[in-house]
Amino acid sequence: MGRRSMRVFSLFCGIAVVSLLRVSVMGQAPAADQGPVAEQVFKNITVLRGLPVDQFMGTMGFYASATGLNCTDCHTSESGGDWAKYADDTPLKQQARRMQVMMQTLNKTNFGGRQVVTCYTCHRGISRPLVMPSLDALYGEPPPDEPGDPFVQAQGQPSADQVLDKYIAAIGGAQRIAGITSLVAKGTYIGFDDADKVPIELYARAPGQRAFIVHGSLGNTTTTFDGRAGWIQAPPTDKPVPLYQITGQELEGVKFEAELMFPARLKQSLTNLRVGLPLYLGEREVQPVQGNTSGGGTVTMNFDTETGLLARLVRYGESPVGRLVTRVDYDDYRDVNGVKMPFRWTVRWLSGRSTYDMSSIQANVAVDAARFAKPQ
Ligand code: HEC
Ligand code: HEC
Repeated sequence: MGRRSMRVFSLFCGIAVVSLLRVSVMGQAPAADQGPVAEQVFKNITVLRGLPVDQFMGTMGFYASATGLNCTDCHTSESGGDWAKYADDTPLKQQARRMQVMMQTLNKTNFGGRQVVTCYTCHRGISRPLVMPSLDALYGEPPPDEPGDPFVQAQGQPSADQVLDKYIAAIGGAQRIAGITSLVAKGTYIGFDDADKVPIELYARAPGQRAFIVHGSLGNTTTTFDGRAGWIQAPPTDKPVPLYQITGQELEGVKFEAELMFPARLKQSLTNLRVGLPLYLGEREVQPVQGNTSGGGTVTMNFDTETGLLARLVRYGESPVGRLVTRVDYDDYRDVNGVKMPFRWTVRWLSGRSTYDMSSIQANVAVDAARFAKPQ
C-alpha cells in the first residue's frame, strides 16, 4: 500500500489503527451473533450491504490499499475528523461503487462467480491503472513472492507433522509447553507513523484466550478474545461505532493466534495441513506449513529451516472485495520457563502496521477470566 494513504489514515485514527481495521472477511450472511451489519450502523450504504461492521471496515482497507487512495481521497477531507462525514458522497466514492458492481459482474459472467478479479487485479496500488506494460518493471528486479497463497503438499518435502514436531522441539518440547497455562506480558506498541511508542499489556490463558490493552494518548484500545467471541473497543474519536465484534474468518484467525501462544495442541488447531516448497524471507530460508480454519480461512506458518522457529504467520479470510490478509513476523525469541517465545512481533494488514515489543513475559501468573470478556 502507498505510504501516503497509510500516513493520512493513521493520523486520523491514531492508535485505533492497532486493530480497529484488522478486520475482514465474509462470504455468507452474518450469523445472528455477529452484531449489526453495515447498513444498520452507517447512513449511506448501497452496494456493500449485509456485512458485519468489522468486515465492512476491512473492505475499506482493501479499497485504500488496492487503489493507493487515502480514506479522505474517496471521502471528503472533513471526514478526517468526523466519522459522520464518511456518509457524504464524492465522485470517487461513486466511482468506487460502480467499480464494485463491475467487478462482481466480471467475476460472475466470466469466471463462474469465483473471486478472481479484485480491485487489486487492475489497480496494483494506484488509482489509475496502467494501460501500458512498464519497461522498467520488465527489466527490473521481480517483486518478492507474496507468501500465503493456497498450495498443496509439495512432493519430496517433509510432512506437516515433521515440521511442527521440529518446531515444538525447537521451542522447548511438548512437556515444557504444556506446563505453561497463562502469560502476562508488558511492553510497548507503535503503529505505522505513530510518533511515540505507548505501553501495552497482554494477558493470555491456555488453551486460547487473549487480551491486549494499548494505552494510547487518546485513551485505551482493548482487544479481547474469550475463546469463542472477540471484541475491539477503541477511544470515541477513533471508531465509527462504539464497540466492534470480530466476526467470520477474521475471528477464526484471531482464535488461531491466541492458541498459538500455547502450542501444545497446534496440530489440532487447523485442518488439511500441508507443506510447501521452502522459500526465502530476506536471507532466511523458511518452510511453509498451511492449513485451514473451521470456516475456511487460510493460515500459513513459515518455519525457519535452520532453527525450526516460527518466523512468519500469514492468514486471510475472504471478503466481497478480495482476500483480507494479515501477516505477523516473530522475532527476538527468548526463554520463558524453558520455552522459547518471541518478544517482538510485527503485524501488517491492509490498513496499517504495528510493532509489539515485550519487555517482560511472565508465565503461570493468575489471570482473571474477566480480562477476556467483552469490554464494558
Ligand atoms: C476507493 C474509494 C474508497 C476508499 C479509499 C475508502 N472508502 Fe470508505 N466508502 C467508499 C464507498 C464506495 C462507500 C459506500 C459503500 C456502499 O455504498 O455500499 C464507503 C463508505 C464508508 C463508510 C460508511 C459511511 C456511512 O455512514 O455511510 C465509512 C465509515 C468508510 N467508508 C470509512 C472508510 C475508511 C476509514 C477508509 C480508509 C481506510 C475508507 N473508507 C476508504 C469508498 C472508499
Ligand atoms: C477491470 C479492471 C478494474 C477493476 C477490477 C477495478 N477498477 Fe477501478 N478503475 C479501472 C480503470 C481502467 C480506471 C480508470 C478509468 C479512467 O481513466 O477513466 C479506474 C478508476 C477507478 C477510480 C477513479 C480513480 C481516479 O483517480 O479517478 C476509482 C476510485 C476506482 N477505480 C476504484 C476501484 C475499486 C474500489 C475497485 C474494486 C471494487 C476497482 N476500482 C476495480 C479499472 C478497474
